[in-house]
Amino acid sequence: MKKLEEYVRSIPDFPEEGIIFRDITSVLQDKDGLRLAIDQMQETLNGVDFDIVLGPESRGFIFGVPIAYNLNKAFVPVRKKGKLPCETVEMEYDLEYGTATIEIHKDAIKPGQKVVIIDDLIATGGTIEAITKLVKQLGGEVVKIVFLMELEGLKGREKLAGYDVRSIISYPGK
Ligand code: PRP
Ligand code: MG
Repeated sequence: MKKLEEYVRSIPDFPEEGIIFRDITSVLQDKDGLRLAIDQMQETLNGVDFDIVLGPESRGFIFGVPIAYNLNKAFVPVRKKGKLPCETVEMEYDLEYGTATIEIHKDAIKPGQKVVIIDDLIATGGTIEAITKLVKQLGGEVVKIVFLMELEGLKGREKLAGYDVRSIISYPGK
């Protein structure tokens, strides 16, 4: 069986010149790739005590939901602004290409609940930094952050100092 990293397709100069896009569709569209990705991300949570998996729209949903389901935990979606129907807390953040605002339902996290954040990729770290602030605002505690991939050259981890951060595949560049 191939290694997980071999399922990731790298596309040079997408969406801009000089950027290498790390494509997860090639992982997902292979049954072995999909299983390896979920299993390896999930294994990082062995022995971790938590209540909720939090995943940012949209690629965070793909990995967050199966892991929450497998571990019998709740899943809370973090959505781009304007999608959630009830009362929310929101945070603006810088993205690799532009800015965005994300929201979580106010009642989704109760004070004292332990949260694991799951996403496909850490680039600048802006998305997850914003999410950690929202979790804090609602009284939750982020106990672990798990990514499938990390672009080390963008130093996103520096924004997440103090948190337990794991990534399965690391790329030295951007
Ligand atoms: C991408 C990726 C991560 C985030 C990483 O999501 O899926 O969530 O960017 O970037 P950062 O570390 O610089 O914040 P994007 O917002 O493009 O949306 P998508 O998941 O809906 O494709
Ligand atoms: Mg995303």
